[in-house]
Amino acid sequence: MEGVVALNIAIIGYGVVGGGVYALLRDGALGIYVRRVMDLLPIAGLEDGLFTDNIADIISDPAIDCVVEAVGGLHPALSHVTAALRAGKHVVTSNKELISHALAPLKEGAAMHRAQLRFSASVGGGVPWLHNLLRQKRGDTLLSVHGIVNGTTNYILDAMGNGMDLSAALKDAQRMGYSEADASADLDGLDTKRKCAISAALAFDAIVEADSVPTLGISAVRKIDIDTFAQHGLTCKLMMYAERGDASLCAYVEPSLLARDTLAAHTPAHYNCITLCGVQSGALSFFGQGAGRHPTAENIVQDLLDIATHATYKDPFLKPVPVDNDMERHPYYIRTSRKELLSGIDGEDWNGALLTKPMAVTALHALAKAIREKDPDAFFAGVPGYDELCHERSGKV
Ligand code: HSE
Repeated sequence: MEGVVALNIAIIGYGVVGGGVYALLRDGALGIYVRRVMDLLPIAGLEDGLFTDNIADIISDPAIDCVVEAVGGLHPALSHVTAALRAGKHVVTSNKELISHALAPLKEGAAMHRAQLRFSASVGGGVPWLHNLLRQKRGDTLLSVHGIVNGTTNYILDAMGNGMDLSAALKDAQRMGYSEADASADLDGLDTKRKCAISAALAFDAIVEADSVPTLGISAVRKIDIDTFAQHGLTCKLMMYAERGDASLCAYVEPSLLARDTLAAHTPAHYNCITLCGVQSGALSFFGQGAGRHPTAENIVQDLLDIATHATYKDPFLKPVPVDNDMERHPYYIRTSRKELLSGIDGEDWNGALLTKPMAVTALHALAKAIREKDPDAFFAGVPGYDELCHERSGKV
């Protein structure tokens, strides 16, 4: 391929994603050569001499230019990646937990050792979201980012809209390799909040602690909720939202009720739909497969090709920024059997649930926490109108 410098790589972790990267690169046609594959147990069918279960074989091999980290989770991925960068090797990863937790020190380590750290597939799976976020940022000022960034929950909500129940839909998503090892990371929104922190970091040059992003998930969603939303012409999606502020930024994750005719509402199965709002561009959306072996592996290969072709964007200058959601307000759907906990909150009855008047995001998330302590089956969803917000704020309709 024209302009591509040959790259020798090692893959750490031969699961859904690592195995997918190997499958895409094994013939060497892209000028990227897999020299080592590391996993805990021997891998059947791998070419002789490729397998190792020892990270030192990779770190100490000067012939390896780049490491693809596909182990997932924080440990031991963090020490493997740190060691690889320290040895001057480029690193490509799709590990959201790792990047949301340690982006700033890893970037620093990479810069110190003149290595590149790339993680396009950590948000959006196969969608070139982060890549285009950085590209757009070169000439535009980003005001906010929002969207569906978890394939598993989107698959479940879409299937529930077609009559399936949550546990059957989750089993399907697990069988197809979309979900996390511990599916509660998907259902409870942890995966989404990590992706929110990463997207906000790149969009706003901010270190956002994932755990400071208030998060509501979908484990308590039931057929009655989905049917009620449909009666009102609404579709429920688990969404992240982050918006630039002066000394703080707004960031949160919650099930969101969208008008049926919006782009995000039409996002099917395990697909993602992620939007940036730029001063110049207005709303700009990216759509594609948000999880799964081949799309995610392909996004990783694109990062490898960027390294091989020396394609770079200006790295964000990261500074810690607190999260403050006091100014953001919208109505909420609240279903709880403990109605007494809703006394004094104004709103409309929706099949026994409450549709509130606009409330501050901070207040609702605090209320949700208090209600869930007494009623773990309570379900909450915002009615945010993100697209209108972007049009208003950017002035670019
Ligand atoms: N469990 C994740 C999802 C995998 O469903 O989106 C891709 O990050």
